[in-house]
Amino acid sequence: MRAVLKIGGSLLYNEDGQVRIDRLREYADSIKSLVKAGHSLVVVVGGGKPARIFISAARELGASEAQCDWLGIKLARNNAELLCAALGDLAYPKIIDDFDELEVAMNLGGKVVLLGGMIPGQSTNAVAAASAELIDADILFNATNVDGVYDRNPEEKGAKKLDSIDVAQLRTILSSEGTRAGEYNLFDPVAIGIVERSKIPTVIFNGNNPQNLAKAFNNEKIGTTIVHTTNK
Ligand code: UTP
Repeated sequence: MRAVLKIGGSLLYNEDGQVRIDRLREYADSIKSLVKAGHSLVVVVGGGKPARIFISAARELGASEAQCDWLGIKLARNNAELLCAALGDLAYPKIIDDFDELEVAMNLGGKVVLLGGMIPGQSTNAVAAASAELIDADILFNATNVDGVYDRNPEEKGAKKLDSIDVAQLRTILSSEGTRAGEYNLFDPVAIGIVERSKIPTVIFNGNNPQNLAKAFNNEKIGTTIVHTTNK
């Protein structure tokens, strides 16, 4: 199938802020297997810890929110470069920085196409959703650092992970998310709007378990699925 995979930047760094080389290799190996099995993939990589560090330093130094966003955008692209290095020849060699180029790269065929951030005022989840819309993806996968969407803050007692959720419910649950640079959480409003208008089947799952990616592609029940009244 034709899929977009968003890899949360938080998955690629350890507590001390060091790059998780093992994790990047695991993802590269899984992606290689998926391509071998005939899947076509666009991968969007998030900003993770370095984005947070640079954004908070820049904010403290007086940078505007848009300037902070730009830092996040560029750091997410750097993270995509790391995955590009791990994928070697299988990756389209340039991190896509505009959507025209995404279409060109996809039309060349056979390569895994990588993106980081794109424009201020959103998160890389919006980049992933827009990419899925543009390439008419069958599905959008979001590998993150929680098991899925919870009915309330997962740290609250009694919070329950949901197997599926509709867009209205998702919007309500995530309504208290931040909208400043570096403070987006699971899905930002731009991403939700795109997934909703094009009814993009979307699965949010825990990317800390390397086996989950293969499970998601095998259509096994995993994480939380965003359902639409009439799926594509
Ligand atoms: P993300 O918040 O998307 O990174 O991008 P992430 O790694 O997926 O998030 P975590 O760490 O796993 O939770 C980092 C920051 O870059 C800016 C935003 O400020 C965002 O918070 N950004 C990213 C943009 O402004 N536009 C984009 O298109 C992408």
